[in-house]
Parts: sequence; C-alpha cells; structure tokens
Amino acid sequence: MRLLSSAAAIAAALILPVATHAADAPVQLTLDASKPGTVIDRNIFGQFAEHLGSGIYGGIWVGRDSTIPNTRGIRKDVVVALKALKVPNVRWPGGCFADQYNWRRGVGPERKPAVGEPNTFGTDEFMDFAHQIGADAFVSVNLGSGTAMEAAEWFEYMTSPTEGLGAERAKNGHPEPYKVAVLGLGNESWDCGGSMSADFYVNEMKRFSHFVHNFNPTANQPMKRVAVGPNGDDPSYTEAVMKAWSARSFSWNIEGLSLHFYATGGWPPHLSDTGFGEKDYAVLLKDSIRLDGMIKTHSAIMDKYDPEKKVALVVDEWGSWLAPTPGSNPGALAQQNSQRDAMVAALGLNIFARHADRVRMANIAQMVNVLQAMILTDKDKMLLTPTYHVFHMYVPFQDATFVPLTFDAGTYTTNGVTLPRVDAIAAKDKAGKIWIAVTNIDPKSPATFHVSLAGVKAKTASGQTLSAPKVDSVNTFAAPNTVAPKAVSAKVADGKMTITVAPASVTVLGLE
Ligand code: AHR
Repeated sequence: MRLLSSAAAIAAALILPVATHAADAPVQLTLDASKPGTVIDRNIFGQFAEHLGSGIYGGIWVGRDSTIPNTRGIRKDVVVALKALKVPNVRWPGGCFADQYNWRRGVGPERKPAVGEPNTFGTDEFMDFAHQIGADAFVSVNLGSGTAMEAAEWFEYMTSPTEGLGAERAKNGHPEPYKVAVLGLGNESWDCGGSMSADFYVNEMKRFSHFVHNFNPTANQPMKRVAVGPNGDDPSYTEAVMKAWSARSFSWNIEGLSLHFYATGGWPPHLSDTGFGEKDYAVLLKDSIRLDGMIKTHSAIMDKYDPEKKVALVVDEWGSWLAPTPGSNPGALAQQNSQRDAMVAALGLNIFARHADRVRMANIAQMVNVLQAMILTDKDKMLLTPTYHVFHMYVPFQDATFVPLTFDAGTYTTNGVTLPRVDAIAAKDKAGKIWIAVTNIDPKSPATFHVSLAGVKAKTASGQTLSAPKVDSVNTFAAPNTVAPKAVSAKVADGKMTITVAPASVTVLGLE
C-alpha cells in the first residue's frame, strides 16, 4: 500500500504539471454536516405570473371553450409541468400591472374588459390555478392608482367566510374562503407603482397594511405582508421602510421587504437570447452574481433596524432580462431560455441559500412565456426550458437545512470578464439525506470535484446533471429536449466523493 501510494504520488508529481493547469485542477470541497445552518425556505422557489405578453393569456389561460386541453380554462399541460416543481407560491397579478389593476372588473359572470386586458382571468381563475398547481397565493394590491378601501374589499372578497363580500364570492362559485398567504403592498412604488418618494410610500403603505385584512380563520399561517423595497442599490426605500417598521405602532406591520434584481448585462436589456458566444455568456453571469452584493447591501441596512431578522428580504422579481426575441412584440418581454439561463438560475438559487437567514422568499420572473420563463407555449405546444430543469433538480433543497461547504472557487476569465470557476451548495433534507449542487461556470473545461464528507455516512451519490452542446443551446418546439437533465452517479469511498462534470453545467446529487 505504502509503495503504491508513493508510486501514485510520484506519478502525480510528474504528470500533474504537464496534464493539469488552473483551468482544470480538481476542486476540493469540504462539507461539514455537523454544522448545519439555516433552513432554506421553500418559498425562495416561488414564481411570478403577471398579466403581461402571453404570460397569462395563452400561457396559462386558454378559456373553457378552447380546443387546448384545459381544466376550467387553465391549460392542463402547464399545470402538470408546474406541479412537478412543487411551486411554493405564485405572485400575481403584477408587477407594474398590479398598480393599474381593478379587481372588480375580473369577477362575476359579466367581466368588464379594460384596455388590453379582457379580465377573463380574474381572482377566481387565479385562485383555481394556484390550487391546481398546489401553490400558495401571493396577491399584490393596487397601491399606486387604487385606494386602500378597494384593496380591503378585494381581500374581503377573497378571504371572508360568508359575510360581506364573501357572499359574493360564494355566489360566484366558491363558498370556501381562499387562503392568501402573502399580501404585496404595491410594486416598485419608486417608479411604475406611482413614482413616490420613500417617505410618501411609507405613509401609504402603513394605511394599506392597517386596512387590508385576512378574514380567513382557517388559513394555517398568518398572512405575510411585503412592503416595496429598494430601487437597485439606492438605500432610500430600505432605510425609510425599516426605520418606520422599527418604530411601528400596533396598527400596522410587515413581514417582508421586496427587492427586484434583473441580470441584464447593462440597461436597457440588449443581450441576445440566442446566437451569442462565450463573451455574452460571461457578461450575463457576471451581472447575475451582483445579486449577492445587492442582498448584502440591503441586509446590512435591515440588520440595523431588525437584528433579529423578523422582516424577510423577499426577492419577488429576479432573473435574466434580455433583448426581446426577434419578431416578437417588444412589450411582451418574450425571450428564449438557454443553458446560460440555467446557470443564472443555479447561481441565483445558491446565493439565496447562502442568505437563507434573511432571504426567505423569492419569485423568478416569470413563470410562462415572459422573461426567464420555466415554460414556453405556442398555441397547443409547450416546452420546458433549461431554467425549468434547474428548478426541478433543486426541489430537494426546498425547506432543507443549509450545510456549509468550504472550497476555493478559483477563477475563469474570458474577454476581460472574470468569474468564479465553480460554485456549490449543500443541504440536509428532512429525512436526513445530504444534497450537493455543483455548478461549473467554465464553458470550456470540465471540472472535477473532490468532496470530503465529514460526518456523512454514504456509499453512493446519484442525481442529475444539466449541460448543453453550447452555452446558447435552447429547447424549441421542434427540438424540445436539446437541453435536458441526464442521470449521473458518483462513488463515495473513505468519506470522499469524486465527480467530474461537463463545462457550463449544473449537477445535483443526493448521498445515500
Ligand atoms: O417583470 C417585468 C416588470 O419588471 C414588472 O412588471 C416590474 O415590476 C418590473 O420592473
């Protein structure tokens, strides 16, 4: 044995300098299962569905008379796909749309269309959709152009058992009150939500927080209220809302502060969704990991007013925002979804997991056909995007406990853009099983991970890996499985696991 080890050591010493360079040196990961961290709230896997482009109409709602298979007007294929993601919550109806939405026009037998909005998908249809996919409802009220009374009545309609507007809901076909898990108190009020100064917003938000009630006595958790938060790096909303919260009276409260973060590679969004090369791959990923700094900046302000972290940072819009797909209506925010988006998704989810003590909810923008979508539809056709596959692979991380991993990520540089070469997170699920997600950012070289598994009794590791022929590979209706996960396994011996993964890939493994 000793001889063999020495021979191996000599061989390695001789061979390594020739065969290995920094770009493909193995990465040493050390996992310490005896030091579990915070629970990764499953709500960070939330999604956002806005009345925008074909996000709702065509993407989710086709109407009861459609030839596209549907349940009460909601696409069956989309529901089946989303159920598999165990979507914890859906934010609706916007976005900027929320601050112009009149809920009254979207209930009852006589719908009243607005300009560009048929209102055939309204409150009862949204609640039906959320129920069909098994998600909680996150409803954002109109604080920009609506009144506190209108918002209060909307919540009375949704949540009151039978009294008042609850009777109207019953007449409209739903006698049971709905559960609304999250109330959004406006959207981007510093811009499309009313261009309000931070102090003006705080005064409005307090009234809405006070007057909008959840009347559902059976909802198994108190409704969380999410206030509008910062515009990018600007601390003014974070400061004003958190300062007011720390001095709050009995009459109002919030449980969350919103942060929106889009990876664009520069504003306005201009990077192509397809047909790009390594440079734009790196530019978008570099921009996407600014999310970490953004969370740190605003968490530090929140810590000043809320050291016990009672108020969550809710990243209720995030993802990549690219130039519109050529030939599409620019206002519809339609974009293809490539392996690059899969990388954005994995890196973003990893960042949330590392900030699990403060980030307890997030909503990728958006669910279907808009921005970094899970699903694309075209009439009766539907496809799953690379981003969908990452969310599916990460399901075991929902409500798992973060387990610290130490590693030197190294660097990958191209065209003057430097990124970490790899990323990784680990967590322990409720059954005690350890899960590891490794991301190889380098699109040219595979990466080998040597993982030391202190305190883990395991013999094998198995899971799925997502890679693609090229960084701009996408799934199309003609070729829907160009980017699809493949089964992968690794041996575990003497408390160590070794796995080599493809360039530009995401891999999730469970240890057994
Ligand atoms: O997700 C698209 C838009 O981006 C939302 O309506 C708005 O809140 C944000 O600016």
